[in-house]
Amino acid sequence: MTARGTGALMSVTYEIVAGDFVRAGEAASKLKRVLQQLGLDPTIIRRAAIATYEAEMNIVIHSYGGHISVDITCDSIEILCEDSGPGIPDIEKALQEGYSTASEDVREMGFGAGMGLPNIRRSADDFSIESRIGQGTRLQVRILHRAGE
Ligand SMILES: Nc1ncnc2c1ncn2[C@@H]1O[C@H](COP(=O)(O)OP(=O)(O)OP(=O)(O)O)[C@@H](O)[C@H]1O
Ligand SMILES: [Mg+2]
Repeated sequence: MTARGTGALMSVTYEIVAGDFVRAGEAASKLKRVLQQLGLDPTIIRRAAIATYEAEMNIVIHSYGGHISVDITCDSIEILCEDSGPGIPDIEKALQEGYSTASEDVREMGFGAGMGLPNIRRSADDFSIESRIGQGTRLQVRILHRAGE
């Protein structure tokens, strides 16, 4: 890839349906394939896939549904995750390792360790999360890469 500049090389959007454990994880898998086809570094791909997977699961498990939009530019992967509620009452608490409000049913499926948001933050070069009760949560992750190197 030799493109230079600030424009997106590729943009993809995935709709995420609340409670859909059959399709859960598909967005992260599809993004992973796109990044592999673009020839990005496997370490970068792994970080983007982890962040997207955890954000996707959070939308499936904890939200009313939303979408994940990804812009891939020649030096970054920008992952924007938005849902339509219910929102996170205490973001500081939600970011703590081990904090989870997951139900017993969800824990039986293997989720609810309270490690998703901390792992997203660790995978990101830039991380931001905003949430409004009744309106939803907006999570932004940027991962830097150097295409073609
Ligand atoms: N999109 C969201 N909407 C509403 N609440 C959320 C959302 N994402 C996270 N949360 C809240 O933040 C808490 C911590 O999220 P985190 O992803 O770290 O852990 P978890 O999803 O509970 O467990 P794990 O990700 O380890 O399976 C959740 O339990 C939930 O209360
Ligand atoms: Mg989670």
